[in-house]
Amino acid sequence: MLVKSASFITSVADNHFYESDFDEIAFVGRSNVGKSSLINLIANRKGLAKTSSTPGKTKLINYFLINKKFLLVDLPGYGYAQVSKSQKTNWADFLEEYLKTSTKLKCVYLLLDVRRTPTEQDELMMKFLYANRIPFKIVITKTDTLSKLQVSNNLFVICQKIGVNRNDVILTSSQDKFGAKELLSSIESYIMA
Ligand code: GTP
Ligand code: MG
Repeated sequence: MLVKSASFITSVADNHFYESDFDEIAFVGRSNVGKSSLINLIANRKGLAKTSSTPGKTKLINYFLINKKFLLVDLPGYGYAQVSKSQKTNWADFLEEYLKTSTKLKCVYLLLDVRRTPTEQDELMMKFLYANRIPFKIVITKTDTLSKLQVSNNLFVICQKIGVNRNDVILTSSQDKFGAKELLSSIESYIMA
C-alpha cells in the first residue's frame, strides 16, 4: 500500500469515541516507545502526530485518516511514572474502554522498544488483548539505537519473555525510516479482511 493522503481528524479525551464507517488500526505501548513517530513514518508526514522526548505527550486518543480509507488511532502511552495513581487508573480505563468498545477496530499494534525488556504493563496489555479477542501484532521500535547483533540478541530475549515467534514481529526505526513497508502491508491485510 502506498500512502497518498494522511490527515488529522480529531482528538478525544473522554469516552465519546469518534465513530465512522472507517476501519481502525490502533497503536499502543509504553509512553515514549515511539507510537506517534511511527504514525508519522508510515503516513510519511513529519509533524502529523505530535512527538516528544518528554513521556506522556499523547494524553488523548488521536485519529488520523489514511488514503481516505482507514483510521490510524494513536492511543495514550501507559507506564508513565510522573502521573498520579488516579490519573493512571483513568488512562487505563480510557484505553481499555476504547479497545473493548470500538466496533471498527481491526488490529492493534503493540509497540516495544528494542532496548527494553517488556514490562508487566506490556504483558498485561497482551493478556487484555487475548482475553478480549482483539487481533494484535508486536512492533519493535528504535532499532537504530543498537547494533545489528544487539538487536538480534534483544529480540530473542523479548520474544521469549512474551512468548511470541521471532517471525511474527515487525522491526522498525522511525529515525532510519525503516519498517514502514512491512508495517503497511501488515495493516493492509487487516483492513482488507
Ligand atoms: P507518548 O505520546 O508519550 O506515549 O510517546 P510516543 O510513544 O508517542 O513516543 P514519540 O513518538 O513521541 O517518541 C518519543 C521519543 O522517542 C522522541 O524523542 C522520539 O524522537 C524518539 N523516537 C521515536 N522513534 C524513534 C526511533 O525510531 N529511533 C530513535 N532513535 N528515537 C526515536
Ligand atoms: Mg505519542
